[in-house]
Amino acid sequence: MNQQSKSEHIIIFDTTLRDGEQCPGATLNVEEKLIIARQLARLGVDVIEAGFAIASPGDFEAVEKIAKTVGTPDGPVICSLARAIKADIEAAAEALKSAAKARIHTFISTSDIHLQYQLKKSRAQVLAIAKEMVAYAKSFVEDVEFSPMDAVRSDSEYLYQVLEAAIRAGATTINIPDTVGYTTPSEFGALIAGIKNNVPNIEQAIISVHGHNDLGLAVANFLEAVKNGARQLECTINGIGERAGNASLEELVMALHVRRQYFNPYLGRTVDSEEPLTKIDTRQIYKTSRLVSNLTGMLVQPNKAIVGANAFAHESGIHQDGVLKHKLTYEIMDAESIGLTDNQIVLGKHSGRNAFRTRLKELGLELLEADLNKAFVRFKEVADKKKEITDWDLEALVNDEIQQAPELFRLEVVQVSCGNKAHPTATVVLRTPNGKELTDAAIGTGPVDAVYKAINRVVDVPNELIEFSVQSVTAGIDAIGEVTIRLRYQERVFSGHSANTDIIVASAQAYVNALNRLYASLQKIQPSSQTESELARKC
Ligand code: KIV
Ligand code: ZN
Repeated sequence: MNQQSKSEHIIIFDTTLRDGEQCPGATLNVEEKLIIARQLARLGVDVIEAGFAIASPGDFEAVEKIAKTVGTPDGPVICSLARAIKADIEAAAEALKSAAKARIHTFISTSDIHLQYQLKKSRAQVLAIAKEMVAYAKSFVEDVEFSPMDAVRSDSEYLYQVLEAAIRAGATTINIPDTVGYTTPSEFGALIAGIKNNVPNIEQAIISVHGHNDLGLAVANFLEAVKNGARQLECTINGIGERAGNASLEELVMALHVRRQYFNPYLGRTVDSEEPLTKIDTRQIYKTSRLVSNLTGMLVQPNKAIVGANAFAHESGIHQDGVLKHKLTYEIMDAESIGLTDNQIVLGKHSGRNAFRTRLKELGLELLEADLNKAFVRFKEVADKKKEITDWDLEALVNDEIQQAPELFRLEVVQVSCGNKAHPTATVVLRTPNGKELTDAAIGTGPVDAVYKAINRVVDVPNELIEFSVQSVTAGIDAIGEVTIRLRYQERVFSGHSANTDIIVASAQAYVNALNRLYASLQKIQPSSQTESELARKC
């Protein structure tokens, strides 16, 4: 069967929850992965790579839950990664059991450098494993993807042979990874063209591309691949991922959207065809970006294409003048097309529960009853302090409320005194995991430093604060401030996020959230470590 001609659009394969989650500190728990998976389904991605089932019990559970709840017949394909090893493939198949459309994505390296130093196997051995493991995956699911890892640095004749064998063994998608982010657009385009021309059974599979952004070229490489026959793009929200990240979903989708006329002929369409090139609902892009940033703690740089805070801001007088006269003078796309609506004032102190729920629903934020109740309480607290609550405020509050940092230590009270003639001093009251209330105080170089020092006196886990950022959600003196922090404990990074009209409270809560993640991971990985027993004494 000719798989490639069946694809009338560019397939968007989202790997935020697998490759994206591999970046330091972006670790998500199962509930957070589910929230993101639901939003990815609303965004309209074709495939969600939900995790690497064998990697950890948490990964397995996430793939299983996403398969069950998001992998409905009209939902996306749910995929799990698996090395070309039987146990990996079995774990993936088991975790994916309840997905209506399940895919196993199996991989093995094909570059000589990986074969010699990492796998310590010959080309012939790897070829045999690829064949055997694709066939094994096929015995569980119809939809099998095969990746020759480090394809870009592999010998092309050998690569063709491996791909031909994988397709013969049943692979329906063959994915060409630029694992180390090394290639350039014309080189990558030529590689895809070479595969199309030299793999005899290539018409029976979809050609996919996967790439990292070490040289900042991932998106450009993918677009060149599309021109040469790639029909699936593997990407992540905000471009997060291993090292410099993966190709960014929003950049790829908007490039194909804004420059549709340029790309149409490469898909056999007429230049003027209005049919979208992807199935993405572009108006969900901004919301998805914010959700992923808040839950992973990976901030989006202000000048990031499409979703950065400045992406639609015009500073220069000449540009502002032009845009006021005619938007298209300096704008190639509408902010609304990515869901960046005008920052409407929607709710206030007198708004009731129903109005609150309805507006959230209109924004695509559907919460479970318990989360809705918590979010409504927060909304009322904020509405007491802030006259006008905008859509962005609502999103910030809801994202904060649904964030699933385990609540081991709970911030009960935070109080600071500071000023130009005072030593910044903070008092905190924390409830420990076993219900004790502990109070402590500290002096710092500023109010946030004092709060963090006071918290450290209670939660005694030596850590290094490596990132602290405050962003205001909207303009105005009464704006909600969002605080995102990252801290390092030994070699691991943990993030915390919180939103509040009081940035000291948000800072304290973000820190407690990150410490709770750290503490939860200590409980999991080193139950008898010294630090843990020190902590246990405190609790
Ligand atoms: O970068 C890479 O090569 C990968 C593969 C597992 C597809 O992530
Ligand atoms: Zn990768």
